[in-house]
Amino acid sequence: MIRSVITGSGSSLPRDCVTNADLEARVDTTDEWIVERTGIRQRYIAGEGETTSTLATDAARKALADAGVDASEIGLIILATATPDHTFPASATQVQQALGCRGGVAFDVQAVCSGFLYALATADSLLRTGMATKALVIGAETFSRILDWEDRTTCVLFGDGAGAVVLEAQDVAEDGPGILATRLHADGEHKDLLYVDGGPSTTGEVGKLRMKGREVFRHAVVNLADVLNEVLGDAGITAQEIDWVVPHQANARILDATARKLGLSTDKIVVTVDQHANTSAASVPLAFDVARKDGRIKSGDMVMFEAMGGGFTWGATLARL
Ligand code: ACO
Repeated sequence: MIRSVITGSGSSLPRDCVTNADLEARVDTTDEWIVERTGIRQRYIAGEGETTSTLATDAARKALADAGVDASEIGLIILATATPDHTFPASATQVQQALGCRGGVAFDVQAVCSGFLYALATADSLLRTGMATKALVIGAETFSRILDWEDRTTCVLFGDGAGAVVLEAQDVAEDGPGILATRLHADGEHKDLLYVDGGPSTTGEVGKLRMKGREVFRHAVVNLADVLNEVLGDAGITAQEIDWVVPHQANARILDATARKLGLSTDKIVVTVDQHANTSAASVPLAFDVARKDGRIKSGDMVMFEAMGGGFTWGATLARL
């Protein structure tokens, strides 16, 4: 059977690391409040010359090297981002140009923090139709550029970065590797809980992120537990058969609450929110790459990816490596 198999990963962070102590100097906050409420200790913030597409390109190059795939073999690039370099063209085409890929398809996907899950599902579908055989799926963001640095309730929560995977269509056995099940959801009812107060067709300005954090938290825990159970049901496995959960890294308390709802031990959850904060669409592939490179996630492991973000959008994907 033809499945989409993850054959490599890579990630990229901006040069500047900003600790909670650094933030104390510019925002009315404390390291203690941030750690206790979110688990975040530091984040990376893009500086001069660093953009969503430069971070994405760096992560993509590392993923290609890891997979042993040449850029010329890539027929599909999907970049998940809510912070593209420009309104258009799609940042994916900038990555394509920087990598020297000729031909093929390149476009952006916008589902905020769930963007990587949406991009992965889209690439999986296109690979299985035969539209391409090798794809780059990237999550990259520079949220620091849409933060209101006067709003302490949001600006301490986010960071910048990128993560990428190479996805290849392969003929595999039933118990072989590949993406096994995916569920995606969207519900536009709750736009006002998490949105950017600008845009090309409204104010003509980029705008700043606005969030009612407590409300978002409440929806996140319920929606994530539901979608994880749906994917487990589709795949016909129990939560205990998962080797690793690679969640969107919004808040350590959301990760704990979701693990508790599923009856999963927290040592099966990959946590990088302490190091990177919330990097929106980049957080899942970034965390995945960290856990692969440090040897935690190995070939043959059953890995669950999950995320929830603005919209709301949410989803989960189960893959065997
Ligand atoms: N430093 C110090 N104090 C702060 C800060 C800060 N940075 N921010 C808020 N406070 C204060 C508030 O003013 C408030 O003070 P008050 O009680 O005197 O009014 C107090 O802390 C409590 O504020 P709450 O917003 O109720 O704090 P809460 O415990 O809900 O934590 C948080 C806020 C961290 C945002 C939490 O709700 C959360 O993580 N929500 C999830 C949101 C999220 O991660 N969204 C990302 C995208 S969607 C997703 O990824 C799931």
